[in-house]
Amino acid sequence: MKSVKVPLKMLNDVRKELMEKKLMRMDYRIRAEAEYGYIPVKKDIDEYEMVDIDLDELNTHPHNFSELLEDELTSCEIEDLKTSFDTIGEIVILEIPDNLLSKKNIIGKATLNFTKRKSIYMKKSAVHGTIRIRDLELIAGEDNPVTVHKEHGARLKLNVKEVYFSPRLATERKRVSDSVCDGENILDMFCGIGPFPIVIARNNNVNITGVDINENAIKYFKENIRLNKLKNITPLCGDVRDVSPTFKMKFDRIIMNLPGLAYDFLDVAMNLIEDNGIINYYEFSDGYEQGKKRLSDAALKENKNVEIINTRKVKSTSPGEWHISIDAKITSKSDQ
Ligand SMILES: C[S@@+](CC[C@H](N)C(=O)[O-])C[C@H]1O[C@@H](n2cnc3c(N)ncnc32)[C@H](O)[C@@H]1O
Repeated sequence: MKSVKVPLKMLNDVRKELMEKKLMRMDYRIRAEAEYGYIPVKKDIDEYEMVDIDLDELNTHPHNFSELLEDELTSCEIEDLKTSFDTIGEIVILEIPDNLLSKKNIIGKATLNFTKRKSIYMKKSAVHGTIRIRDLELIAGEDNPVTVHKEHGARLKLNVKEVYFSPRLATERKRVSDSVCDGENILDMFCGIGPFPIVIARNNNVNITGVDINENAIKYFKENIRLNKLKNITPLCGDVRDVSPTFKMKFDRIIMNLPGLAYDFLDVAMNLIEDNGIINYYEFSDGYEQGKKRLSDAALKENKNVEIINTRKVKSTSPGEWHISIDAKITSKSDQ
């Protein structure tokens, strides 16, 4: 093994220097003897005495994602890739910028190795269309888009190619679940595979109705109700505007997580909300003013008042824009 031979007292400093210069081999163990130390390296280095010596092979996996890709990408590119990871059950979905597309298979293999999940997909499009799904391409591992994701003790089965799901909303779902009171009647107007209803129903004694226009989402929602052994949840497939006239009751809480278009359904929500009920409203925005105005305009049309009880940036969507949440209490004007 090609190695640098250095006096023992210099071993640590030279090791650091060679690591920083990415010249050290990480797959062999450094050997320290009575007077000299031997550091495995990738090539001859003029400043040091070079020797060929047997060193022990390290049969460990590389320590981290950066180590796996350090020969291929800059540390900035590696950091950007890492923040794009979404892990959903046995699947990792990542975003590869155009300038790194030629290295997608190397990146895929490194991700597979590092995460120990079964399938690595890269994003081929933004989330699009009414049912909010995105195009994906397999870059490593097995092509199986069905998985079971665990979130706050709930098991959520889904097909990542057929339905919307974001693990980045886990904290928001927990927050909403923690704000629910036993006995509430809840409507999730855009429920997807049911993560809000499932997390809420696991932690509260409530009645929940979930509606989604995507048949596949409702198929998995039904399966998730069974997987989590839950009762008092009603899944309905259809456009919530068409389904809502069939409801025989009003709701204490309405969840509106369709951030690009929820404002268009505020009239439906204002009609269905119980007096003093809460609307958990979401939109994409650079702040809260637009959402607050949309809520109060919709309330005014129904002769209702809005009291904003909480606002939160759920996640960043692009520089300066956020997926935001606004919790609004709706009261009838005639009550005041
Ligand atoms: C952003 S996803 C949110 C899903 C779910 N709430 C979650 O957190 O994973 C929005 C969902 O709304 C559904 N959707 C879009 N338009 C709809 C409509 N008019 N009526 C009912 N569902 C609709 C889509 O199919 C999609 O599953």
